[in-house]
Amino acid sequence: MLRARIAVLVSGGGTNLQALINAQESGALRDGEIALVISNVDGAYALERARMAEIETLTLIRRELGGRAGFEAKLQEELEAHGIDLIILAGFMSILSGEFTAKWPNRIINVHPALIPSFCGKGFYGLHVHEAALNYGVKVTGATVHFVNEVPDGGRIIAQKAVEVRDGDTPEILQKRVMEQAEWVILPEAAQKVSKEIVEGKL
Ligand code: GAR
Repeated sequence: MLRARIAVLVSGGGTNLQALINAQESGALRDGEIALVISNVDGAYALERARMAEIETLTLIRRELGGRAGFEAKLQEELEAHGIDLIILAGFMSILSGEFTAKWPNRIINVHPALIPSFCGKGFYGLHVHEAALNYGVKVTGATVHFVNEVPDGGRIIAQKAVEVRDGDTPEILQKRVMEQAEWVILPEAAQKVSKEIVEGKL
């Protein structure tokens, strides 16, 4: 295999997808290629970013596919049809079942906007994570990239980066700082690292 074929799963704005696209365009993502972007939300702006980068897109809506089992069956079918080697969850706001993740050991990675094991697991997604960090009063937060298994946010950690919390932060301000200083940096780096290990047959 020359390059790992990557599918990026998204639900929203897709700034992390954009960071991956930029890494691909700059050559930083040498051992992987983004072959497919899949959204579980109709009209997600991430799809537009993929189209602008001339990457194939798909929208899979859970309720139109008969719920979780139907969604995951269709997802599996599409990933196989596209010869995908690595799945990247980049702002994908739905939890994949243990049945699904067991089919992709060491082949699914996720970016989470906190330093796991803080502020993670079920219910901790998007802005809620930063709200929880501010409510707790932590002075340092950050982002984590990890492998995905049957435990939400529970797989082996690949990379982490700390970001300071400042007086007067709102969840929105903190989210932006965590994205800029941590997520957009460590997600492309981790994508490259894991792609390289897959290509070299080490993972
Ligand atoms: C990002 O902060 C990502 O880490 C988070 O949602 C945001 C998506 O932004 N993901 C989760 O909370 C998953 N548990 P994006 O669509 O602009 O990449």
